[in-house]
Amino acid sequence: MAASIKAAPSSSSSGKFLTLHRPRPLPPSKPARFAVGPSPARRLRSTISCTLTRDAAVRMDEPAHALRPDSFGRFGKFGGKYVPETLMYALAELESAFHALAGDDEFQKELEGILKDYVGRESPLYFAERLTEHYKRPNGEGPHIYLKREDLNHTGAHKINNAVAQALLAKRLGKKRIIAETGAGQHGVATATVCARFGLQCIIYMGAQDMERQALNVFRMRLLGAEVRPVNSGTATLKDATSEAIRDWVTNVETTHYILGSVAGPHPYPMMVREFHAVIGKETRRQALEKWGGKPDVLVACIGGGSNAMGLFHEFVGDEDVRLIGVEAAGFGLDSGKHAATLTKGEVGVLHGAMSYLLQDEDGQIVEPHSISAGLDYPGVGPEHSFLKDVGRAEYYSCTDEEALEAFKRLSRLEGIIPALETSHALGFLEKLCPTLPDGVKVVLNCSGRGDKDVQTAIKYLKV
Ligand SMILES: Cc1ncc(COP(=O)(O)O)c(C=O)c1O
Repeated sequence: MAASIKAAPSSSSSGKFLTLHRPRPLPPSKPARFAVGPSPARRLRSTISCTLTRDAAVRMDEPAHALRPDSFGRFGKFGGKYVPETLMYALAELESAFHALAGDDEFQKELEGILKDYVGRESPLYFAERLTEHYKRPNGEGPHIYLKREDLNHTGAHKINNAVAQALLAKRLGKKRIIAETGAGQHGVATATVCARFGLQCIIYMGAQDMERQALNVFRMRLLGAEVRPVNSGTATLKDATSEAIRDWVTNVETTHYILGSVAGPHPYPMMVREFHAVIGKETRRQALEKWGGKPDVLVACIGGGSNAMGLFHEFVGDEDVRLIGVEAAGFGLDSGKHAATLTKGEVGVLHGAMSYLLQDEDGQIVEPHSISAGLDYPGVGPEHSFLKDVGRAEYYSCTDEEALEAFKRLSRLEGIIPALETSHALGFLEKLCPTLPDGVKVVLNCSGRGDKDVQTAIKYLKV
């Protein structure tokens, strides 16, 4: 493993990891090439050739899904570790601990026990009968819609799966000071919760604007004993909170573990956070088999950094007959310049320690994102999603603020479930997706969180 750490790309100790820069173009003789094929499924089976570093194109004679990530922490050309030297040791230590604990029966048993008795897993796979009815065509045909109920987890969202596992990992590393960033406050609440449970000091960085939008969650975090530090720089949202958390980590790395809240950031976070959420997809496979004796045909999830989507998708990436659909925030519209549709409108660059699609201007400066939902209001996305998009394995679409608000209301009225505004983006996309699906197709949508935290926001827009 030491070799992979040494070879991992680093932006040196200049501290520039927080600023965005476009990668230099690849030399023409070594393009980032993907085998072309008539369908995503055919492409997956094919051998692919893609870049491991910016300097060398490496042929990988393996199916794409077996290489996520490679030993450099890269998903094709995405991912890596663009961090100052001060963090390299901590990242290496984290990666070693993660691999060691993956094979540690005692750790696995402890984690399983907490997921069951504290988090409340497994979460149900619920047949949304009235939502299914809503999408029936005049001839009675239409898809069947199921919700994976991550909103029923303790603290009300998927985020706790990762927070609980990382807190256990921090304990094993002997680190008693925990930091985290949060947008919607769900990851902050999950982190504050597990810190209370394990007796760890907890500091949460949160954009000042998000603190206003998510006042309920700020109170919850404080009640749980966490210190919430407002971040006023930039747009005072998730990107700025993440930058501040990384700054803290650089300064206090000896004593502090950073519980990063999505499949973003430098390696090993995108892989590790995905693995801690993979329980979502594993349960879904088992539950689908029990309920209809097969697999889901289509998986749908909203995309902020991409953790709830990767948690659902990961189990099925190798199942070429299962469609994977991620839904980003289109804000005021894709052409408005005020959205967070990174995969739809972004370009490749580096932010918060990893290469991925980003919203950036011609000079490589971040374009400030916008979404009504704080948890999707981020100009980047996890590197694995960028990879899955480029190889054609997953599809990415978007949903506007207005469409998400409509979906927020629709699920509340049809199913008695008030979804998070983040989740409402995935729900909003059903309006476009369902009319295109054949009769009886099984759709599983990740109900990533509950909407209590968003009621204050929704009151401003919805007349009910
Ligand atoms: C309920 C809920 N869903 C989705 C997200 C988006 O994050 P991710 O894309 O990492 O799942 C958030 C982020 O805060 C959230 O709170």
